[in-house]
Amino acid sequence: MLAAMSTRRVFGTMHWLTLGAALLAPAAACESASDDGGSSTGGSAFATGGSTHPAGQSGSATGGQIATGGAPITQGGVSAAGGSATGGAPAPTGGQTPTGGAVSNAGAPSGGSATGGAPVQGGSAGAASGGGGQANNGGGGGGGQANNGGGGAGGSPLMCPPTAKTLKEAGECSGRLIGTAIATSHLNEAAYVETLREHNYATAENEMKWDSLQPNRGGFNYTNADRFVDFAVQNGMKPKGHTLVWHLQLPSWVSSINDPTELRSVMTNHIKTVIGHYKDRIKEWDVVNEAFENPNNWPDENTPTYRNSVFYRVLGKSFVDDAFKAAREADPEAKLIYNDFRSEGLQPKSDAVYEMVKSMVERGIPIDAVGLQTHLGTPNSKPPVADVIANMQRIADLGLEVLISEMDSHCCDGESPESQATRFHEIVTACLNQPACKAITFWGTTDKYSWLNTWDELDCGGRKPSGLLWDDNYQKKPVYTGVMNALLGK
Ligand code: G3I
Repeated sequence: MLAAMSTRRVFGTMHWLTLGAALLAPAAACESASDDGGSSTGGSAFATGGSTHPAGQSGSATGGQIATGGAPITQGGVSAAGGSATGGAPAPTGGQTPTGGAVSNAGAPSGGSATGGAPVQGGSAGAASGGGGQANNGGGGGGGQANNGGGGAGGSPLMCPPTAKTLKEAGECSGRLIGTAIATSHLNEAAYVETLREHNYATAENEMKWDSLQPNRGGFNYTNADRFVDFAVQNGMKPKGHTLVWHLQLPSWVSSINDPTELRSVMTNHIKTVIGHYKDRIKEWDVVNEAFENPNNWPDENTPTYRNSVFYRVLGKSFVDDAFKAAREADPEAKLIYNDFRSEGLQPKSDAVYEMVKSMVERGIPIDAVGLQTHLGTPNSKPPVADVIANMQRIADLGLEVLISEMDSHCCDGESPESQATRFHEIVTACLNQPACKAITFWGTTDKYSWLNTWDELDCGGRKPSGLLWDDNYQKKPVYTGVMNALLGK
């Protein structure tokens, strides 16, 4: 009880930066920590006037552009089309919710300023009830910067509904989708499904990989993938396709092809067939996953190389271009993503990813976003958040979106639950501060089913990695609270 109270105090009243001091505290074992997380986020979800939402800060930093006015808000499974505008003018459709200023996005705290533009439709409810405050999903901000239409330069308040009790509701405060990986094999477990309901964005953990979709040449099987997509759509979660071209979970009939013409044809056929099958329901695809070699296999620690996959071996690096071109052809409206790990901060692999996508943009290869997987902890790194911020910014400067696409952070090095929570808080805040960062996906919900438990490269000294937001017994951990507080601007 004492521990729970102290955790609430830490997250409820202290500035998040000070949480770093928790590192100095005696470290509870990661796996033994649990907290009632959500309870600390209830009544104080509304920020009061003068408190600053990170999204508003970022707005002023980027010169008054509507930050994520165009980000789709998914409510009840419906995505609103988004628009964007520059110079502080409200986005005509930015931040609108399908329900026209739904209660969960409405409301403005006292003390907010609304000097930067008229609220757009989605925010009108907020403006009306706020009386001079700003609506997070609609009100223009002083200086014109708005995150999903709301927030503003210079300390504009975060407008979160006092009813924001789930991650996805808190994510709506800043127009970010909050996602998780789903394993359909657990969908018959009520407690598991309950955790999924905190999200409005979903990635299939394994069901849409090549060996699942086309285990035999020409023999497409959508059974498990359909189960994932059906569940996601029926539960108001926007499904993301993961992943079309990857060296793992790749059937041997593909990896044994040596002829370039044949392999290119097989690869583009897989992409076009799968995207075509889901064209009505999936609008975001991880097109190529992990094209760069695991740093352990580089000639030296500063020399990233392309991965020695069958695709690179037989086709050279042009396989990446070809894959994206095929994907665009299959669905011109879909968001096309390059996804990789250990590329979150400023490190050689991040540089390699950046240079590759920069070259793609310069050459007109269709790419829309970069997924930073964010599997943190040895053998991957735990980059300083300043580096993550800088990396996101340089990707954004290319005109690409950024996604935190598979986040977890294990505690095998003895990290305390509080320190783990701080890390998640920092990364989530970094995303909220970056207009181009549209979504945060965690790689699962409960530690019970985390891939980290079986990762052969992870030496956890007999402990549990405990890298996710819920523990084995579906109790919310301090890291859940860290994420929730970040989403609420606390
Ligand atoms: O489906 C078989 C099952 O039939 C068999 O009985 C069982 C025995 O081990 O294995 C099952 O397959 C496993 C599969 O997960 C489904 O549980 C594979 O062995 C196992 O290797 C596979 O692990 C997945 C891993 O990707 C493969 O590399 C993890 O669940 C999944 O979380 C992980 O996800 C990846 C992302 O796709 C890309 N980024 C990195 C991330 C973590 O590695």
